[in-house]
Amino acid sequence: MSQVYPNRLPILIDTDPGVDDALAILMAHRHADVVGLTIAAGNVGLAHTTANALKLVETIGATTPVFAGCATPLVHAAEDAAFVHGLDGFGDTGYAPSARRAENEPAAQAILRLSREHAGKLVIVAMAPLTNLALALRLDPDLPSRVARLVVMGGAVTGRGNTTVSAEFNIGFDPEAAHIVFCAWPKIELADWELTVRHGIAFDTVARWVQADSPTARFFDAISRKTRAWSIERGRPQLALADPLAMAVALQPDIVTQGEEHHLEIALHGAARGATIVDWDDRSGKAANARIVMDLDQARFEALCASALGAD
Ligand code: BDR
Ligand code: CA
Repeated sequence: MSQVYPNRLPILIDTDPGVDDALAILMAHRHADVVGLTIAAGNVGLAHTTANALKLVETIGATTPVFAGCATPLVHAAEDAAFVHGLDGFGDTGYAPSARRAENEPAAQAILRLSREHAGKLVIVAMAPLTNLALALRLDPDLPSRVARLVVMGGAVTGRGNTTVSAEFNIGFDPEAAHIVFCAWPKIELADWELTVRHGIAFDTVARWVQADSPTARFFDAISRKTRAWSIERGRPQLALADPLAMAVALQPDIVTQGEEHHLEIALHGAARGATIVDWDDRSGKAANARIVMDLDQARFEALCASALGAD
């Protein structure tokens, strides 16, 4: 797991682990060269998300560097999602903390350095509030020119949010950061919350995956128990795995069976704060800045998740 494969895709993951983040990070380590995890606050506070990332890396025997980022959204405080992921973000299993430590370099600077070291090849997968990426862009507006692809899990493209009526969590937690990133980046590949709902995974299927005889399956089984129980109690028909969808798109771009390119902007004020406003009919004349994933191959998505847990 810790080897670097020269021909594998170099991926930098900006993340706030988080149960679904964990599975996406496992997928990336199975299929790509993960050059770093930059950590945001979001699902829970930064101390927990950083500790969770370090624990996950240790669990899989990898040496991926972990860089802590900004502990708060850029402008306004926001509520976390501990009610979904557990108070510690990893299902409150009481795991022994990792012996590893985060690097000294702040996340935004690590993003810029790694974009230079892997210029033209780096794929960034952003699965958290976009705080770190916005800071990196403010420090160096040329960042997009060095990055091959930016895949974002975020937004609710027709306004069916999961944190307010119209906002999805990653965008709603730090709308100003999302605004900076969507204004600056020429073309973002977007896996939104509504795609996640359409591509949920049957609870039975997840239960089968976590029975696999592997350290990753055992770890994911433990940390995802609370989230799975909460989802069932809430009456959700399937388990929503948002970040793994974005990771699947990053790892296998041809998994996308239908997409649309449009201009997208972030609402910053009023009841719609944090909503992703998509110009579906291209009325504004503004250049498309988002390639929105509308559909993808469910069987291939599930195969990627299963293989990350050693259940293939
Ligand atoms: C997103 O919010 C977080 O709770 C998940 O980890 C995912 O990144 C889904 O809205
Ligand atoms: Ca996340």
